[in-house]
Amino acid sequence: MRPPSTERPAHETTDAGATRASLLDTALVLGGVLLPSVVIGVIKRRPRLLRLARRARLDRMSIALMRRLRDRYGPGPLVLPLPIRPMALPLNAGHVERILADADTFHPGGHYKRLSLRHFQPHGVLISDEPERSDRRELNEDVLETDRPEHSLTAPMTAVIRDEVSALLAARDRLGWDEFNAAWWWIVRRIVLGDAARDDREPTDLLDRLRRDANWAGFHPRREGVRRRFDAALRRHLDRAEPGSLAGQVGARAADQVPHWLFAFDAAGMVTFRALALLATHPEQAAQARTPGPYAGACVLDTVRLWPTTPLLLREATRDTDWGRVRIPRGTQFVIFTPFFHRDAETLPYADRFAPRAWLDGTASAEAGLVPFSAGPARCPGRDLVLQVTGTVLAELTAGHEYRLLAPPRLDPDRPLPATLDNFGLTFAVRTRQWPSD
Ligand code: HEM
Repeated sequence: MRPPSTERPAHETTDAGATRASLLDTALVLGGVLLPSVVIGVIKRRPRLLRLARRARLDRMSIALMRRLRDRYGPGPLVLPLPIRPMALPLNAGHVERILADADTFHPGGHYKRLSLRHFQPHGVLISDEPERSDRRELNEDVLETDRPEHSLTAPMTAVIRDEVSALLAARDRLGWDEFNAAWWWIVRRIVLGDAARDDREPTDLLDRLRRDANWAGFHPRREGVRRRFDAALRRHLDRAEPGSLAGQVGARAADQVPHWLFAFDAAGMVTFRALALLATHPEQAAQARTPGPYAGACVLDTVRLWPTTPLLLREATRDTDWGRVRIPRGTQFVIFTPFFHRDAETLPYADRFAPRAWLDGTASAEAGLVPFSAGPARCPGRDLVLQVTGTVLAELTAGHEYRLLAPPRLDPDRPLPATLDNFGLTFAVRTRQWPSD
């Protein structure tokens, strides 16, 4: 086994060789890094278990374990000698960049992801192979308008958000997850499927059932009957192709891809509510978020950095790969544990603080290990749309109202932010703002 490099800090070294973890460390990674994410629910969060994880400070422990591994083994990747399918754990931001940039060698689909996602999106782009992958990716990019900061449906989307947020806040002095989440889904169904889908919970409820099965991956049988009902409920709206919605742009042509969109908008709701908690406790950032412009989107980006909604980015090696003098075999599952890189105090002066400005001045985007929306050819094609939608929701929520966080934990600007934030447990006192917008 290689001794750790002493010449350069481990996080800066990209050319060192892979190392093999001891059996004890392999067990610690499985139990202390991978298992908690799986138990909390990779595809559909389990609220009670998320609450327990917060109390037990599991994420903090996982990040600390990864740091110990990096100190002990050097920059890796760290190969976990598992019997059937080996795993490799990158411990270096340069390796994260290399893996995500090369989707041919490190396939974004792969065995584990397929077992899970095929419960509800067997033809989703994320688990597709070529040649279908390119066509499906192109369709996603066309409709979601990837890399365009302002979506062509901005006007109808903003009208929907104004409408629903003002209904949500009317005569309200408390705001908890349940009320927010109901309003969130009215917004999402109207934006994705059209106004007529606002109150039709059938597609989203059926999707939730399938996603709960997907948490169990191959250990739960696929329920084809439920999936057929879900497809039919979705198609009813896609066939209408209501103008002003994403369905209106593409109709039933995107039927295979819409399940991922609805699934991913769930994460966006969790992120928006967490960002509201940060704004409620960080007056300096809150004042800037109220002014129109990209700041609100940067608040969302930094919230995903602090509490990534995809903490495990999986890539499966399609060929043998060389890391220094060590060759890692084809079929190895590379597991990027993003909270470790996103909270790396060795590289980030703002590791445990709320730092939207770092995204606006470009310093955060320049960090190879900061990948809240992934990176490379399989980077989230919904990134720009989702930052726009969530930023607008945040701006609408905070324009005329102020919030006090009632439920724990404390999120003080002068203390390190916790590694887990249970969005389901957040409750705010709400009142109309007493002073004019800045
Ligand atoms: C806060 C919200 C979101 C976050 C943090 C997020 C993040 C991500 C990440 C990390 C990936 C890569 C996953 C992987 O490699 O395993 C991804 C992929 C993807 N996301 Fe998002 N996403 C969000 C919302 C959305 C929304 C709302 C949509 C669509 C409307 C969307 C569409 C997609 C698609 C289609 C892919 C697969 C891309 C491919 O395989 O080429 N995402 N997203």
